[in-house]
Amino acid sequence: VSLVVDRIGLLVTNDPTIGDGPLGVRRDAAVVIDGEHVVEIADAGTIAADERIDADGRCVIPGFVDSHTHLVFAGDRGDEFAARMAGAPYAAGGIRTTVDATRAASDDELIDLASMRRREAARAGITALEIKSGYGLTAHDEARCLRIGRWFTNDTTFLGAHVVPPEFDGRADDYVTHLRDVMLPAAAPHARWVDAFCERGAFDADQCRAVIRAGQALGLGGRLHANQLGHGPGVALAVELGCASADHCTYLDDDDIAALAGSDTVATFLPATDFSTRQPYPDARRVIDAGASVAIATNCNPGSSYTTSMSLCIALAVRDLRMTPDEALLATTSGGARALRRTDVGHLGVGARADLVVLDAPSYTHLVYRPGVPLVAMTLVGGLALA
Ligand code: NIG
Repeated sequence: VSLVVDRIGLLVTNDPTIGDGPLGVRRDAAVVIDGEHVVEIADAGTIAADERIDADGRCVIPGFVDSHTHLVFAGDRGDEFAARMAGAPYAAGGIRTTVDATRAASDDELIDLASMRRREAARAGITALEIKSGYGLTAHDEARCLRIGRWFTNDTTFLGAHVVPPEFDGRADDYVTHLRDVMLPAAAPHARWVDAFCERGAFDADQCRAVIRAGQALGLGGRLHANQLGHGPGVALAVELGCASADHCTYLDDDDIAALAGSDTVATFLPATDFSTRQPYPDARRVIDAGASVAIATNCNPGSSYTTSMSLCIALAVRDLRMTPDEALLATTSGGARALRRTDVGHLGVGARADLVVLDAPSYTHLVYRPGVPLVAMTLVGGLALA
């Protein structure tokens, strides 16, 4: 045994066979790690190992799984944010500002910027994440951003259908054809997923369907930006196409909720986006009570949600989306894993990756109870301490 995280006051495993309730909670516990994986959950003080981390009675949770980010980009949109807080609406068109800056940046600049954001995310307790392209919007720049994303995760997502680029102004259908025939084949070797922004000002349902189906035909899994800025066909389309996740879900009607509940598509809420764009918050309570699977992600991006703070997302989810602290913790860990169709992360059962967070708190409830306070004391990724 190479490592034991010992003297854990409250351990969340998300494995009901190991502990109490859906969170699989154990008191006075130890996580035993060999190499990159959990090999045992034991009572505190009972295991000898090469190395020992003393949690000193604090709470340990599975690392956060952030299933929706746009970490690879250059430029800054702080002025756009300030204007929004002064009353301007959020619109999809702002994406083009970041496209200009990203195209102009060198590979080294993009790698440095993404590395800085990945370190920040690790300090926030994020141990696994998805990264989308979508700020290149040429075959070359999309493939480049995905290759850079692959430095950090295998869960890279081709989002060429983020917005129509200036070269195709007024010719969205031509862009979708170009995307399908030229961009997608160049991007697919560097991606696991394909995504599209189904929204007024971005792409309509037929265009999104063509993009997702073309990606699926090349072996990519589907995901969709759905119902972010108003009610639309996105959620129904995500379910129709068997997408792993419908992301945003800010505007949901009864049919959307019923469709999600009857499907394997995870409803992924991005509450920091609703915060940063002054949108209403969705009612996650109705979605959970209907029986749908839910996740929470940061949506870290320069336009609508420039944060890596999963703790902020949890606090908003509890206060404004009407989740319980237990549901919010599950949504940011096992929910994120489900949205990425992964079973190796999001829990601390035997065989799981040793991705965990030691909180400077006796309970995960403090993530909500102490809003804005940095409570992540240590992040372990694959058994290695990162922060
Ligand atoms: O998920 N909605 C589309 N894409 C991002 C925002 C991108 C931007 O504004 O730069 C999102 O919110």
